[in-house]
Amino acid sequence: MPNIVVVGAQWGDEGKGKIIDILAKDADVVARYQGGHNAGHTVVVNDEEYILHLIPSGIIHPGKICMIGNGVVIDPEALIGEIEGLKSRGIAIDNNLFISKNSHLIMPYHCIIDKESERSKSIGTTGRGIGPAYVDKVARTGIRMSDLLDPQLFREKLELNLSNMNYLLYNVYKSEQLDLEEIYSKYMGYAKKIGKYITDVSILINKYIEENSNILFEGAQGTLLDIDHGTYPYVTSSNAIAGGACTGLGIGPTKIDGVLGVSKAYTTRVGSGPFPTELKDKLGNDLRSKGREYGATTGRPRRCGWLDVVVVRYSVIINGMSGIALTKLDILDEYPNIKICVGYKYKGNIYNEMPHESSVLWNCEPVYEEIEGWQESTAGIKRFDSLPDKAKAYIERIEDLIGVSIDIISTSQKREDTIIKQNPFKDYLLV
Ligand code: IMP
Repeated sequence: MPNIVVVGAQWGDEGKGKIIDILAKDADVVARYQGGHNAGHTVVVNDEEYILHLIPSGIIHPGKICMIGNGVVIDPEALIGEIEGLKSRGIAIDNNLFISKNSHLIMPYHCIIDKESERSKSIGTTGRGIGPAYVDKVARTGIRMSDLLDPQLFREKLELNLSNMNYLLYNVYKSEQLDLEEIYSKYMGYAKKIGKYITDVSILINKYIEENSNILFEGAQGTLLDIDHGTYPYVTSSNAIAGGACTGLGIGPTKIDGVLGVSKAYTTRVGSGPFPTELKDKLGNDLRSKGREYGATTGRPRRCGWLDVVVVRYSVIINGMSGIALTKLDILDEYPNIKICVGYKYKGNIYNEMPHESSVLWNCEPVYEEIEGWQESTAGIKRFDSLPDKAKAYIERIEDLIGVSIDIISTSQKREDTIIKQNPFKDYLLV
């Protein structure tokens, strides 16, 4: 049975939540492998909107097993809020949510440091403590989910961390120091609420793989926000690419059968960093309002621009994508002309492959191909044949440029408004 990774092909917010929700129908397990509650996955079912930050979007399908892997950093308060929010809407959680013992906890000092260090770094982080939690993980001082289950050990680790952090908060950031007892009792309270979900997710997911279950690996953010392969330093602090599924869950690369990339029919980015096709004019504002481009986590307006196939082609390569899900096609319905960026021009040179030099990314001029818009509604179309010819031509031109097929096309926020040309669970070749 195929195991499929769903990964963002741009700077996040590509609409992965909806695609994962659709594919979850054919999955037994949906497992998240990196990031934290910086992510926001929006799913609309029967006109009801669900915004998930930590729990895999598959949870909305009754009976699906959902896992949060060791690669995720977890703010227990945010997690509990999400669990309670879903329960209050009648979604069953207790027997189907599993959280890795080895996932790291976001602590109150992480959020303060994230916000304070943002003053000098200006990355435009979500301010949720994600980066500082990963810093502690790599520094080998992090506190893990399993520590919540051992109050004595948790206290010792907290004591040690807090003595360093309070020094930093007070002397460097001139911020108030945090109280050990207050954090300790708060986190012990969290342990009572989430202890039952904590388990060895790596062993569990490998059991499901052994039993030939269909597994969907859920990536957060996107390839260009990956800590190693993104537009560094304007990135998040985890491996958002498909390879992150292996380290972030403890599964071997041989267990992955296909990678579905998700790309918008145009481009958006939230936070700072280079964005070659950004439209800072009326058109950019128009895309933002038509596409309702405001962050699901922070509510920040997203920067908008034309589709950049230099970016998507790069993502296809880095992730070994088998195919693409193209979202928000309907947002382009009214434009008489639509542009596709096929290269970057900088100091007389043309770059067709993604450059990593920030001087090029910040200062290049996009090289555009222009195609005629279809100027009729595609909203709600469910069959490829029913799309206007010019919309089909746009899709086929993107396929030519990126070198893989567009297998899924989303024509509105709703679950049912989707064209499925190939279902990854049924049609992707096993490696
Ligand atoms: P952090 O992940 O909060 O540290 O933020 C680092 C960068 O990643 C910032 O530019 C954020 O706006 C961006 N970012 C983090 N999560 C998401 C996401 O889910 N969608 C889009 N951008 C994100």
